[in-house]
Amino acid sequence: MAFLAEALDRVKPSATIAVTQKARELKAKGRDVIGLGAGEPDFDTPDNIKQAAIEAIERGETKYTPISGIPQLREAISAKFKRENNLDYKPEQTIVGTGGKQVLFNAFMATLNPGDEVIIPAPYWVSYPEMVAICNGKSVFVEAGIETNFKLTAEALKRAITPRTKWFLFNSPSNPTGAAYTRDEVKALTDVLVRHPQVWVMTDDMYEHLVYGDFTFVTPAEVEPSLYDRTITINGVSKAYAMTGWRIGYAGGPLNLIKAMDMIQGQQTSGACSIAQWAAVEALSGTQDFIPRNREIFQGRRDLVVSMLNQANGIKCPTPEGAFYVYPSCEGLIGRKTEAGKVIESDVDFVTELLEAEGVAVVQGSAFGLGPNFRISYATSDALLEEACARIQRFCASLKN
Ligand SMILES: Cc1ncc(COP(=O)(O)O)c(C=O)c1O
Repeated sequence: MAFLAEALDRVKPSATIAVTQKARELKAKGRDVIGLGAGEPDFDTPDNIKQAAIEAIERGETKYTPISGIPQLREAISAKFKRENNLDYKPEQTIVGTGGKQVLFNAFMATLNPGDEVIIPAPYWVSYPEMVAICNGKSVFVEAGIETNFKLTAEALKRAITPRTKWFLFNSPSNPTGAAYTRDEVKALTDVLVRHPQVWVMTDDMYEHLVYGDFTFVTPAEVEPSLYDRTITINGVSKAYAMTGWRIGYAGGPLNLIKAMDMIQGQQTSGACSIAQWAAVEALSGTQDFIPRNREIFQGRRDLVVSMLNQANGIKCPTPEGAFYVYPSCEGLIGRKTEAGKVIESDVDFVTELLEAEGVAVVQGSAFGLGPNFRISYATSDALLEEACARIQRFCASLKN
């Protein structure tokens, strides 16, 4: 009898973590490596948030909390949804988890039966299909390629829906492409969903605050209120407030779903870290000055990276609306040879040879379900980004027909 659970046969380790690990190993060997794989802001958590955590420790807020979160945080989440998204979620309709990751996972855990289908636009965040697989569901991938700026069309969504579809998983701005949907683009999708009452919407709004220029973020239940009763709106403090290590994510949704997730979490981790919850109260309720400052810096980096990549031979890089990723195509380089005679046959070859030749670590698009592309995270300094893009340009120029 096998010792490890069969469910593990269906799960892959994270490709993004693998790239970060490989870059770390090369660095340890003394190689000059620039890692553009990590999915976290390079800024420190703002001081007012750190201070709130310190005060929480000093007040003795160090005990177990209610499973779904401290009342003050659930109030702050309820107010945030009203203020920023025009959504009415009462505090009891919210849940706080250990990162958005746990909230997503528990929403699947609470709802998926074997064979239930989850529609996932590709490219997708690496964890979605693995979560679905662990929970015995079936991922149905729908391509959203470069021709549509990595956005799913209403027709493609319509074709993917079956009587077994339980969830449509929506992520805007997207990891890995940075693509964000306008109100009209969201409406085109919600118009389809309105006609399929068996389909619920799980929206991952983690990058809500990282949108550039005059782009306005919208979320499905706000655009189509008639979907409110079958939508879970998931968000977190990791990306917006540079709080990845604090591990706080949250959701608003229908009461019966939130209760089911509370039940699972109660037998799993219980409430999230008490101190981090108090920090999140300050993040959501205190000054929001950090957000526009942060956004401006990221926008400058996006523009730098997009412009330099489009000057690289064989690379095509659309300008994404948000997040801190770009997802250029390397299709123009497939079939070319490195100086050592190795033929670039796929995006995996491209990222491997790029790391070997120039010490730049990026993640292959095939890890996110659509290639030949690669993902660059631009959550690092301008100087490093400039150097990395110059190296990519040099590498591309060195490839021969
Ligand atoms: C699209 C997306 N959703 C959710 C998460 C989870 O974030 P956290 O668990 O830190 O809240 C991430 C983190 O990389 C992400 O990129």
